[in-house]
Amino acid sequence: MRVLFIGDICGRPGRDGLARAMSGLREHHDPDLVIANGENSAGGLGITEKTARQIFDTGVDVITTGNHVYRHRDVYGFLDECERIVRPANYRTSNPGRGHTIVEAAGRRVCVINLSGTVYLDAARSPFDTSDALLERLRDDADAFIVDFHAELTSEKVAMGWHLDGRVAADFGTHTHVPTADGRVLPGGTAFISDVGMTGSRAGVIGAKREQVLQAFRSQMPIRFETAEEDIWVMGAVVEVGEDGLATSFEQVLLPVEE
Ligand SMILES: [Fe+2]
Ligand SMILES: [Fe+2]
Repeated sequence: MRVLFIGDICGRPGRDGLARAMSGLREHHDPDLVIANGENSAGGLGITEKTARQIFDTGVDVITTGNHVYRHRDVYGFLDECERIVRPANYRTSNPGRGHTIVEAAGRRVCVINLSGTVYLDAARSPFDTSDALLERLRDDADAFIVDFHAELTSEKVAMGWHLDGRVAADFGTHTHVPTADGRVLPGGTAFISDVGMTGSRAGVIGAKREQVLQAFRSQMPIRFETAEEDIWVMGAVVEVGEDGLATSFEQVLLPVEE
């Protein structure tokens, strides 16, 4: 089974870029399951039913999210209803949406779990404890587990990789929007990368227009950010998962999207 994971889709440029890139990605990587982080898909912050449906229409099977998931109130009902979107499992259980979902791919039951880091991000419970509890509870319900660990700090992400090694097929880091160079299969059989990067403009600052972000840093005043539009890239990773539910290969995806 081959899994394609796509980093945070930033605004319309990211959504349109992914739509343009998907047939090439399918041809080249032949994925059985496509997972994408959609937390920045609506105007660069948050997700709506409309942007989620557009992402699904490109051929994405499961959408993960992160700290911006509750930005738009009108998506809350959709998060509850739609079984193919997840939000961090270590948020309050009473919050809208679900923390994991089980889908079928290549005749196997694949559980996708979303977790949030707790350093510089808010979450109700430890992602380490939450992952332990979920993996224990769902052991007989899925043949393979895929984690999106949405976290700020590289140390927390690397620690999570070791925590999950040998227990999940892949642990993909998201949130920083900057791809790291540490992607590999860990010794226990878990594919890991601290951050896959984003799907959006490389001409901005992690997705926003660079003039505005520079002005914010230089003036130290609040500035409204708009999504950057030029030089769109799809960033992610492809992992091959064996019969035992562990990874046999890891390949980074850093793909410029043609206009
Ligand atoms: Fe993000
Ligand atoms: Fe984030």
